[in-house]
Amino acid sequence: MWALKAAIVFVAAIFLAAGAFLLFAWRSEIPEDATAGEASFAPELVARGAQLAAVGNCIACHTVPGKPAFSGGLAVPTPFGTIYSTNITPDRDTGIGGWSEAAFERAMREGVDRAGNHLYPAFPYDHFTRVTAQDNRALYAFLMTRAAVKAEAPENELPFPLEFRPLLAGWKLLFLRQGEVEPEAARSEEWNRGRYLVEGLGHCGACHTPRNAFGAEDRDRHFGGGEAEGWQAYAINPDSKAPIPWDEQSLAFYLRNGWHEFHGVSRGPMAEVTGNLSLLPDRDIAAIATYVVSVMGDPTPERAQRAAELREQFEADRLEQTADSQSSVALASGGKAGETLYLAACANCHQGARRQPFGGLNFELSTAVNAPNPQNIVNVVLFGLPPADGEASAVMPAFRHILSDQQLADLLAYMRESFSDEPAWSGLVEQVANTRSGAYKVTIRPSDGIERAPHNVGAEEE
Ligand code: HEC
Ligand code: HEC
Ligand code: HEC
Repeated sequence: MWALKAAIVFVAAIFLAAGAFLLFAWRSEIPEDATAGEASFAPELVARGAQLAAVGNCIACHTVPGKPAFSGGLAVPTPFGTIYSTNITPDRDTGIGGWSEAAFERAMREGVDRAGNHLYPAFPYDHFTRVTAQDNRALYAFLMTRAAVKAEAPENELPFPLEFRPLLAGWKLLFLRQGEVEPEAARSEEWNRGRYLVEGLGHCGACHTPRNAFGAEDRDRHFGGGEAEGWQAYAINPDSKAPIPWDEQSLAFYLRNGWHEFHGVSRGPMAEVTGNLSLLPDRDIAAIATYVVSVMGDPTPERAQRAAELREQFEADRLEQTADSQSSVALASGGKAGETLYLAACANCHQGARRQPFGGLNFELSTAVNAPNPQNIVNVVLFGLPPADGEASAVMPAFRHILSDQQLADLLAYMRESFSDEPAWSGLVEQVANTRSGAYKVTIRPSDGIERAPHNVGAEEE
């Protein structure tokens, strides 16, 4: 009898808790706006929205290569499963054609769709929540003036119980800090503008900050290095491994052009970021650089000293080598495993006279060789840098049909030892094998990112 009573109380408590949670997770539907798709917007507002959409990289996640811009359906891989981006063109049935501005703003601020469903944080609303109402209006105007496309996103592939969206209310309670942030009065207007763009629409931390077991960014390791689509997004805080530390000029140049002579070409998902940022006015790029460099802080005296030496060496080397386009490197002694491969297959480009971005970076300048994880080198060597369609781009051959797992592992070990003071990497053969077999999924695209998504349909169109 006692046991039965206890069981009833227990079950009732569970139901009550579940009910309370569902009530807590519940969000209202915002009624369809019958005229949203036909509204007209000032051309200046739409043009500003185009720039903001470029900062937010909306097109990269919301477009399948070769399909119409913003029509969604791209698989966004997460450690928990695959989430498909949605159609954000103004189509009434399959897109956001029926969404009022309020519904759009709620999605950006709270990660809730028009019908009241919680959205997965694969849509980086933990950053977009910082966007001002004014900028959301411009984004809304931009999206609502794109061509409407009928396209339905595939079902997400998530294990039980993660497909149950109300659970996301719990995630948000723990990890989402909603709303705009106040400017810091002690900092310059430029710095504050940079922080707004970087921490908000730019969502740099979505890739560059490591995540915890729940897939939320670890705030204590802000910009400490993360992962995106099978690529390492290097640390861009005081832990940065760039041999010549980034400064405002080099960072602004890299973000604008997608390469820098002391840092090489932006690859993988970063290629898309820099491709999109090229739409921004100089002052916004400069603001982003100012803020990010302030997060990196001043390099230690040893690092600054080493950087000065490298600068001097590479300025001088260039002058010397312009007379002779062939590299003049030779086997040092007997040839360690990896050394011969390096000299035969890589040195001609990577220690040659061709300048960035079309020549290969000297690995003494390479963040990749100094990074804790060599994944980006494995990706680049196996799959190469494919040429971008119809544009001059940095090209590198793919070596997957030439080098065995063991050979590439030897080459990596040699490069680490020769071009960096960091400790040796471990598990290289396995890492190469898993990348080659596709067990470890890597997204490859040309260095300027135009394969994956059509060029941002920008302000010039209006
Ligand atoms: C990193 C990838 C990524 C980026 C960048 C991104 N989105 Fe998304 N977005 C998604 C995914 C994935 C979903 C679907 C989430 C879900 O189903 O819960 C989504 C959903 C949405 C939705 C909800 C649509 C609906 O029908 O429910 C809107 C609105 C949206 N995104 C707008 C934007 C805008 C505007 C930008 C640029 C400022 C942007 N997104 C950038 C991945 C992204
Ligand atoms: C979609 C993921 C993603 C986003 C968003 C992103 N990055 Fe990156 N970033 C990467 C990856 C991956 C790399 C490594 C690229 C490579 O190997 O060339 C990278 C490289 C970089 C580097 C070069 C670091 C070095 O030492 O070589 C800088 C600087 C950088 N990102 C800054 C930014 C800034 C600033 C933003 C926001 C405006 C940003 N990133 C947004 C993925 C991302
Ligand atoms: C035909 C010329 C060519 C050859 C041969 C070549 N590369 Fe490259 N590589 C390039 C170019 C161009 C880039 C893009 C510019 C840059 O970022 O260095 C590049 C980029 C890279 C990068 C990214 C740069 C960095 O360090 O962050 C790595 C790693 C790399 N190559 C490794 C190799 C290795 C290892 C070999 C030999 C197996 C090799 N490459 C052979 C031309 C070449």
